[in-house]
Amino acid sequence: MAHRSVLITGSGTGVGKTFIAYNIAYCLKNKGLKVGYFKPIETGVEEIPQDGATLCQLTGQSIDEAVAFTCKLPLAPYACTIEEGTDFDIEFIKRRYKELMEKYHFLIVEGAGGLAVPIQKGYDYAHLAKDLDIPILIVSYPTLGTIHSTYTTYFYARAMALKVLGIVLNGTKGEDISERTNARIIQELTDVEVLQTPYQRGGVFSLELLNRICRLIGF
Ligand SMILES: Nc1ncnc2c1ncn2[C@@H]1O[C@H](COP(=O)(O)OP(=O)(O)O)[C@@H](O)[C@H]1O
Ligand SMILES: [Mg+2]
Repeated sequence: MAHRSVLITGSGTGVGKTFIAYNIAYCLKNKGLKVGYFKPIETGVEEIPQDGATLCQLTGQSIDEAVAFTCKLPLAPYACTIEEGTDFDIEFIKRRYKELMEKYHFLIVEGAGGLAVPIQKGYDYAHLAKDLDIPILIVSYPTLGTIHSTYTTYFYARAMALKVLGIVLNGTKGEDISERTNARIIQELTDVEVLQTPYQRGGVFSLELLNRICRLIGF
């Protein structure tokens, strides 16, 4: 079944959430869908939110529409609140999400860091996914250590009763021998499809791979 939105989350920061979000947006746009991007909170922003700018270039949105809140330090949102006093209004995020859902055929939501990253004390991205009733895609690194990081992220999602659409082990270079077995083992530990995506210069995957990623989210 095709969904109308997805939360691109991960096992940590720098795993390729924005990269995968971009590829999904690219693929759905080519299928003729009006695709929107929503980054509730982007941290580590000096002037222009980079994730927002990257996706808005493709979706044609204004950054103000796509990014609800920013803060300067490259930290978890709750840590930004402690350090900088920034207030992240969850109700505002929920309202903006609903507005964007009205406006686009499909909405790609990107978290900050991993699934258990706190937005406020006692409220993380899994709570947000639950409150918004949004299915998730877990992006993770492809190399040694990913079995533990990916499985614990998946396990947490399940414990929170979230719908997991799939797992993407992103950025394989074929240099780490664990890449030969990680996907298979994670596949055996979970009941969702596990995709491996290569390190790809230029930013866009092959058409075949784009279609496989889009199938994970029902297209
Ligand atoms: N499959 C890939 N091939 C090449 N570069 C990638 C790939 N995935 C991520 N990157 C690069 O790695 C960096 C971190 O990825 P990014 O998508 O920003 O991670 P996240 O959003 O999870 O923090 C970026 O510079 C991005 O362009
Ligand atoms: Mg990102």
